This record gives sequence, C-alpha cells and structure tokens, in this order.
Amino acid sequence: MRTPLIVGNWKMNKTASEAAAFIRDLLERLPAAPSAEVVLAPPFTALESASRALGPDAWISLGAQNLHWEQQGAFTGEVSAPMLRELGCRYVILGHSERRLLFGERDEVIQKKIRTALTEGLAPILCVGESLAEREAGHTESVVTTQLNGSLAGLTQQDLATVTIAYEPVWAIGTGRAATTEQAVTVHRSIRLFVETGWNHETAAAIRILYGGSVTPQNAESFLASETIDGALVGGACLNPDSFATIVRIARTQKA
Ligand code: 13P
Repeated sequence: MRTPLIVGNWKMNKTASEAAAFIRDLLERLPAAPSAEVVLAPPFTALESASRALGPDAWISLGAQNLHWEQQGAFTGEVSAPMLRELGCRYVILGHSERRLLFGERDEVIQKKIRTALTEGLAPILCVGESLAEREAGHTESVVTTQLNGSLAGLTQQDLATVTIAYEPVWAIGTGRAATTEQAVTVHRSIRLFVETGWNHETAAAIRILYGGSVTPQNAESFLASETIDGALVGGACLNPDSFATIVRIARTQKA
C-alpha cells in the first residue's frame, strides 16, 4: 500500500551540464516502472537542466535540497518554494543533518519550512537522526522523537499524508558505515509509533519512512527487504548512474 521511494540526494555535486548527462545515462539504464517512485534532488543550479533532461513525460520526479519559508523577499542567497515549483520540483528535502550541523538549522526553522512546503504544494522529506555520541549514550529514540515533535507538531492528518520521513543516523552518512537493518528497523518502528500516537493508526500505516546513510547496491537489498523500510535516501551511491539504477531495481524487486 505504501509505494516504495528511492531518493537521490546529490548534495553539492554536478553542474547543470553534468546533471543532464547523468540523467540521459540513467534513463538508458532504467526503463519506467510503477513499482517504485524515484526522485532526484540536484543542486538548485541544475534543476532546470535536470527537468529538461527528464522530459515532458518524466517518470522520475525532481526534488530540491532545501527552501526558504517565505515566498519572496530580502533573503540573499535563498530560494523559495514558488521558484522550485516553477522548475518542476515536487519534493523538497528538509532538515538534513548537514543543514542542521553545518548551517545551524533548528527544529523551529524546519517546521516553518515544512509548513511552507505543504502550503506551496511541495512534498517534504523530513530527515531525522542521531549522532554517534547520542546513540552511544542510549538517546537515539529521544533525539529522533524530539526532532519529529519539533518539526511536525500541529500538522493535520491531511498534511502528514504528503510528508515522508527519512531516518538518517548522522554517523552513517558518508562514512561507509551503514546502520544494520535491525538498528534501522528499531528506529523506523519508533517513528511509526510516534505518528500513530500523535495522529492515528491510518496515518502511521500510510506514511513512508526511508532509511539513509551509506546505502549502496550491496546493502540496499537488506534494508528494502524489511516491511517497515519504505525506501532509501541515497547520497554517495546516487552520483553514479549504474549504482543508483541498481538500487532502484532492488527496490522494484524487493517491494513488488
Ligand atoms: P550517503 O549515502 O553518502 O551516506 O549520504 C546519505 C545522505 O545524507 C542522503 O541524504
């Protein structure tokens, strides 16, 4: 009932021309199939060329990696939801740990961004996850719950229907040290329980929860075989068309 979702977060990689070449290559490797949804999140500067390369009948969706919560105004260096919509974005990644840690984004700001995304017609992909020190101190669940509370509080059931949550333990991002499937499943279950408690069973059963952090073609099968893991948020491995296509194929077969 939950369509699996594979998201490629390019982070600060690929120019506009590199994006177009990557997408042409990816489309040759990967025919369309409805069994898994695929989203690419290039940098802002590559969104337009990515959209053109995907074509008018695109089956891969575009996502942005951030937005500003206002629609327009004196916010030097920022990009708004209407700007992203006009370039064809349907999704937006919010609260990524790199935004939290390197750019000081706090839950209150992430909440504002989520609300803006929802009113502007962009589907938020909210990232949560603990640091290594927090995990070792046994605080994983409370850290994740605090992040969820801080960014989702007050949203309606209807809002939640467009939100995706990505569990990305900070210590697993870009380290080659992915969480074990069991570790991911445990946190995924507590996230679903959080949604069930805060909203209701129907909302919890419908919301997609992804895993992210050193996902590769080698370990994707184990994550995606789990009933509670609805897809992956992929960083490093999404920059190579072959490995990204392999992960999408694994999602298609595991979730068929
Ligand atoms: P890696 O797959 O490179 O660990 O990055 C994960 C990530 O941060 C995706 O948002």
